[in-house]
Amino acid sequence: MNWKRKDLLGLEELNREEIEYILDIARSFKEVSTRPVKKVPALRGKTIVNLFFEPSTRTKTSFELAAKRLSADVLNFEVSTSSVSKGETIVDTARNIEAMKVDCFIVRHSVSGAPYLISRSVKAAVINAGDGCHEHPTQALLDLFTVREIFGKIAGIKIAIIGDIFHSRVARSNIWGFTKLGAKVTVCGPPTLIPPGIQKTGVEVSYSISEAVKDVDIVYLLRLQKERQQENFFPSHSEYRNFFGFDHNKFRDLKNKFFLMHPGPMNRGIEISTQAAEKENSLILQQVTNGIAVRMAVLYLTVRSVR
Ligand code: CP
Repeated sequence: MNWKRKDLLGLEELNREEIEYILDIARSFKEVSTRPVKKVPALRGKTIVNLFFEPSTRTKTSFELAAKRLSADVLNFEVSTSSVSKGETIVDTARNIEAMKVDCFIVRHSVSGAPYLISRSVKAAVINAGDGCHEHPTQALLDLFTVREIFGKIAGIKIAIIGDIFHSRVARSNIWGFTKLGAKVTVCGPPTLIPPGIQKTGVEVSYSISEAVKDVDIVYLLRLQKERQQENFFPSHSEYRNFFGFDHNKFRDLKNKFFLMHPGPMNRGIEISTQAAEKENSLILQQVTNGIAVRMAVLYLTVRSVR
């Protein structure tokens, strides 16, 4: 494939071939992280900027390691000590950093659309590392990569995505990714946390976790996003845990063999029990490992497409 996109802003705008191409490139990069010297020269001389306006452990670290394994230089821009605190706009911030001849911005922001705004204002590549409730494309790509690694395919896989669908950029990107690649997706959660009309994206809706997890290959639990819930969407955390929390004992008798996934960070004891998170069918740390290869692929393709 002749990759032409300088930005990766969401999976909504990618077609099946483009998504599969990123996963194929990621597969070739995965081996790099197992070498004694974990480096290839693919982006030597390029500069990648981590521009995170929201906290992150996995995504920020993973992008930094991915860039370094491609031999790029990395700048971790510290928002809290920058002139953003004096009122400088995100566009001015990005344009001033770009004037120092950088090649790529990795952008996380609490406002949906912020990476799109930056991408229209700079010539450098822009990668969305999570924007508000909108998309988190590299999370979905690493989830797809992990499922494909386990099952050898995505088409025909049955996945139940459970929890706070309404506020979840991870759910949105995964719905685009899994449906485009032919998986059967069910979303499940309290009615207040399921966006109206979500069936139009090709998913089924269930309000019962017992029904949703019956006969699936993957149970994908979402973090309860307390920071985005400005109203009371359910009576209490213990009620949420009782109805929608995944506790292995509760599902001990499930006949189907399934794998458990979670994007992190986990609220242990709310959407997932510690026991469930640590069981042998949990793919949670494998997802994190695969994040490096997937982000190496995304950086490689986008940065090389900047003109
Ligand atoms: N999954 C994820 O985006 O985690 P972080 O918020 O730690 O980056």
